[in-house]
Amino acid sequence: MVILEAKDISKIYGDLNDESSTIALQDINISINAGEFIAIMGPSGSGKTTLLNIVSGLDQPTSGTVSIEGKQLSQFKGEKLAQFRRRQIGFVFQDFNLLDSLTVKENIMLPMILEKKQVDEMEGKVDKLANLFEITSLLNKYPSKTSGGQQQRTAVSRALVNEPSIILADEPSGNLDSKSSAVIMESFEEIVETLSTTVLIVTHDIFAASYCNKVIFIKDGSIHSTITRKGNKKDFLQQIMANVAVVGGRTDVF
Ligand SMILES: Nc1ncnc2c1ncn2[C@@H]1O[C@H](COP(=O)(O)OP(=O)(O)OP(=O)(O)O)[C@@H](O)[C@H]1O
Ligand SMILES: [Mg+2]
Repeated sequence: MVILEAKDISKIYGDLNDESSTIALQDINISINAGEFIAIMGPSGSGKTTLLNIVSGLDQPTSGTVSIEGKQLSQFKGEKLAQFRRRQIGFVFQDFNLLDSLTVKENIMLPMILEKKQVDEMEGKVDKLANLFEITSLLNKYPSKTSGGQQQRTAVSRALVNEPSIILADEPSGNLDSKSSAVIMESFEEIVETLSTTVLIVTHDIFAASYCNKVIFIKDGSIHSTITRKGNKKDFLQQIMANVAVVGGRTDVF
């Protein structure tokens, strides 16, 4: 089943006739099936965040269409779009984006509160996710009193709580040390395997990308190549490294 489809996406910032305009994306086509775990890699400025913002409905393409579970994003406006995004997409950010005036538990519940869910259902969901991500003992703490890795696991729990069709993450391990990065990538791996969640991440980190099943390389706003994991992580890591060497970009390894 196709979860996300981006067709002929182009994005131009500014007026095309203006010298200062930027062609950020050009003729991007991506189709993501249920249960896929995909990384987007590419040099700084190649268009990764722009693409993520467009497929999530945060920004509009200059041309082309995005569909999630067969529904074109452009048919939704205002509160309808906000609601569709809230139900279908889970977001994870580099800087976690947790609210520090709320506890870990309240942060995880927030998307359900917005959906006016029953308290019992919310409590049950939070317990299940906290258990899965080993943050049960932190539920009543404030995010700033927990570690970066714990904050990101809280953010992943929050992203999952409404059972979205897809999780989108821009550099989810960008602000984490190597051990916490591994834990976050393992938790994505686990939700893909156990909950059949579909996950799309942007990363500069080849080790993080090696957890995925597929890596899409973007260069100058176009898809340069796509590689699919066939063997183990280590072989895939080598393959990713070879592609990064061709496409360019940082080769951070945590
Ligand atoms: N709001 C904007 N207005 C104008 N130009 C923009 C805007 N956002 C991004 N750009 C330009 O579009 C291109 C793609 O930017 P984008 O942020 O998507 O790159 P990226 O691949 O995410 O880079 P990084 O790895 O540094 O995060 C760049 O040339 C950038 O300068
Ligand atoms: Mg970016």
